[in-house]
Amino acid sequence: MKGIILAGGAGSRLYPMTRVMTKQLQSIYDKPMIYYPLSILMLGGIKDILLITSPDDQPLFKKLLGDGSQFGIKLSYVVQEKPNGLPEAFVLGEDFIGNDDVCLMLGDNLFYGDLTFFRDAIKAQKEKAGGLNGRVFAYYVADPSAYGVVEFDKNTKKVKSIEEKPKAPKSQYAIPGLYLFDKTVAKRAKALKPSPRGETEIVDLILSYHNEDTLGVEMMYRGLAWLDTGTPRSLLDAASFIGAIEERQGMKVACLEEVAYRMKFITLDQLQKITADLPKCSYRSYLEKIITEEI
Ligand code: TTP
Repeated sequence: MKGIILAGGAGSRLYPMTRVMTKQLQSIYDKPMIYYPLSILMLGGIKDILLITSPDDQPLFKKLLGDGSQFGIKLSYVVQEKPNGLPEAFVLGEDFIGNDDVCLMLGDNLFYGDLTFFRDAIKAQKEKAGGLNGRVFAYYVADPSAYGVVEFDKNTKKVKSIEEKPKAPKSQYAIPGLYLFDKTVAKRAKALKPSPRGETEIVDLILSYHNEDTLGVEMMYRGLAWLDTGTPRSLLDAASFIGAIEERQGMKVACLEEVAYRMKFITLDQLQKITADLPKCSYRSYLEKIITEEI
C-alpha cells in the first residue's frame, strides 16, 4: 500500500494567512498541520509516501520532513502546478503508485481515535475483499453540504447516491478526505473531465468505482473525531481539540517521532539520537519521557 498526501490547494478561505504559507504548514496547537495526516498514514502501517505540494511550498516541506528516514519512512515529493482538483493526485502519482494500491489523505484532514477501522480497510483493500476495488468512508456531520455526500438505501443499506457539495444534502453522511483505491485509479483520474468550477472532482472518481459495483463505503464510528481545517473557525476548533486532549492525557497526538517508534519504524536507539538533536522544548521533554519509560 502506497500513501499520498495532497497538500497543495489555494487555501483561499484562510487568506491572508495563506498568502505566504500554505494551509498545511500552519499550526494545529503545537505542531504543523501536515504532521496529523502523515501520522495517520504511518499508523496505518504505510511507509512509502508521496507528498504533493504547490511549487513554492515544496522546499518548505522538504526542510520540515526531509526524506522521511528519521521516521523510518520513505517520503517523495511531487509538485502540483495549480489546484486542478483532488483526482490530479493520482495522475501526478501514477509512476509512484505503479502496480500497488494507494491511500490518499488530504493534507488538511485530521482524525483522532481508534484507527482499527483504517487498518482493517487497508487489509481489505489489499485483499480486494468482497470484490471491491475502492473504499471510502462515511461520517455523520451536522452540515455535510461542503463535502461529498453519500445517501444509503434505508432497507438494503446500499449506497443510493453520491453527490458533490449538494445544496440540499440527501443525508448527513459526508465523505472524509481518506480514500483507498486500486492501481487503476490513475487511468480513471486521467479520464475525468473538469466540473463547471474548473476542477476534476473526487466524487466523479468515486462514482467510477460505484458504477462498476466495486466501491465499498464504510461507516466511521461516531467516537472517532474527524475535523477539517479549511476555515479560520475550524482551524481554531482543531487546535482547541488537540490542546484539550494533549493537556488532559499528557500524551501528544501526531508526534511523528513517537509514532515511528511505536510502529517499530525506528529503534529506541534511533529515537534517542533524534531527540538529542532537538532544541529544548516541551516536544523534546515529551520524547525524553517516552525514552525513560521504555528503558
Ligand atoms: P480544499 O479545502 O477543497 O481547497 P483549498 O485547500 O485550496 O482551500 P480553499 O477552498 O479555501 O481555497 O482542499 C482540500 C485539501 O486538498 C487541502 O489539503 C488542499 C488539497 N488540494 C490540493 O492539494 N490540490 C487541489 O487541487 C485541491 C482542490 C485541493
